[in-house]
Amino acid sequence: MTMQEPIGAAVVGCGAIFPLHAGAVQQLKGVQLKVVVDSDPAKAKEAATPYSCEAATDYLTLLDRDDIQVVHLCTPHHLHAEMATQLLRAGKHVLTEKPLAHHLEAAESVLAEARLSEAQLGVVFQNRYNASSQKIREFLESKTLGRLICLKGIVTWHRDEAYYADSPWRGRWSTEGGGVLINQAIHTLDLLQWFGGEVVSVQGSVTADALGDVIEVEDTAHASLRFKDGARGLFYATNAYLTNTPVELELVFEGGTLHQRNENLYLTRDGHESLVCEPPANLNDAGQIIGKSYWGSSHQLLIADFYDHVRSGTRFAIGAEEGLKTLRLIAELYRSSRTRDSR
Ligand SMILES: NC(=O)c1ccc[n+]([C@@H]2O[C@H](COP(=O)([O-])OP(=O)(O)OC[C@H]3O[C@@H](n4cnc5c(N)ncnc54)[C@H](O)[C@@H]3O)[C@@H](O)[C@H]2O)c1
Repeated sequence: MTMQEPIGAAVVGCGAIFPLHAGAVQQLKGVQLKVVVDSDPAKAKEAATPYSCEAATDYLTLLDRDDIQVVHLCTPHHLHAEMATQLLRAGKHVLTEKPLAHHLEAAESVLAEARLSEAQLGVVFQNRYNASSQKIREFLESKTLGRLICLKGIVTWHRDEAYYADSPWRGRWSTEGGGVLINQAIHTLDLLQWFGGEVVSVQGSVTADALGDVIEVEDTAHASLRFKDGARGLFYATNAYLTNTPVELELVFEGGTLHQRNENLYLTRDGHESLVCEPPANLNDAGQIIGKSYWGSSHQLLIADFYDHVRSGTRFAIGAEEGLKTLRLIAELYRSSRTRDSR
């Protein structure tokens, strides 16, 4: 590839999240979406049409193609590790949707591959790019509010029987690898550890409160976290609410408290609350909001940043090591829950 040639991209998996990846690629200068892949030929064809690109049904056909440098993985969780491994070995840069893999051992194996490869591996934790998350990191790095004492993350979303029936890989240990933790609340766990630093202990439990007859995995989880620097964390997540409300985050410092509500960030100091950050409108050409308000709408920002790193050859910050951290937290939470149950 010469400097003038566009970077060739492919997206594998043409389901719910596909439009955010394909749409983001389409907006980038110097990047061309060349192929979309889905094992269901009708889905691949339908997805390819608006982007005037090729449709394929087997991602392995990408391995030998010199015109494809970056592959996005938007497939069910249990396919991420194997696909990322094959693609990295073929020298392709991989941007995988979360989670890095459907369980810890598979994620460790991808990390080993990523360390051996010249190509980059990125994990989509787009909420790190939300304006409020960036502002929280600024407060943490500048230490203007003093020591972080405690933080909490609350996820109350709605996933019903129809959501699980729609894509049968969901709700199963073998294919989703977990429930609310690995699929929905993984973003919030990622933010809690990104803000609070290394987690040294996780105590909590998981249950299937509302969907026990429908799914094998948990729909609800809570945990108490201890961070290396002394802060404490509280985490609660459920798919058993009747609507999707925006994630709530709170960070209590010696000198003030930050709250994220509706993606706005407020600072309370000396009894006075002020708005310190509001999300910029993230609109497409038709003026519609990109992404879903409760997912966050920063896919475009993350994807643009990933391509900047591919172009410059510098390491993208959210690599396999970062992807592994949330899977370790989730594994610890399951361990804690099992230990309690057996007491
Ligand atoms: N970052 C976020 O906020 C966010 C939001 C939603 C979904 N996701 C993630 O995106 C991924 C996909 O989720 P989804 O909701 O779009 O799932 P989905 O079930 O809607 O789509 C998955 C697609 O992959 C296809 N597929 C299955 N096996 C395949 C194979 N071997 N080769 C090619 N295609 C194959 C299916 O036919 C389907 O079209 C998951 O990892 C999920 O966690 C992330």
